[in-house]
Amino acid sequence: MSEPVIAAKSPFAVAVEEGKDYYWCSCGLSKAQPFCDGSHKGSGFVPTQYTAPKTDTVYFCGCKHSKTGALCDGSHKKL
Ligand code: FES
Ligand code: FES
Repeated sequence: MSEPVIAAKSPFAVAVEEGKDYYWCSCGLSKAQPFCDGSHKGSGFVPTQYTAPKTDTVYFCGCKHSKTGALCDGSHKKL
C-alpha cells in the first residue's frame, strides 16, 4: 500500500489531555478513527505518536493527507 486510505474528508475533533500520548492512524484502515487499532499491519504504515502539549480540543486529520502529520492542515479540501 503506497497511499493511505481516506478515512474521512474532514478532521475529527478530540478533547485531549496535557501530556497524554495518542496514536493517530496514518493508514486510514483503522475502525477506531482517528486512532490506530492495529489494522495497519502489513500495509507499510505505522501510527504517529501525538503528545498533547496542553488540554484542549484538537483536530486530527481524517483524510490522512495532512502534511503536518496527525493534525489537520486543511489538505482535505484539495482531495
Ligand atoms: Fe492505521 Fe494503525 S490502523 S496506523
Ligand atoms: Fe486531513 Fe484535514 S482532514 S488535512
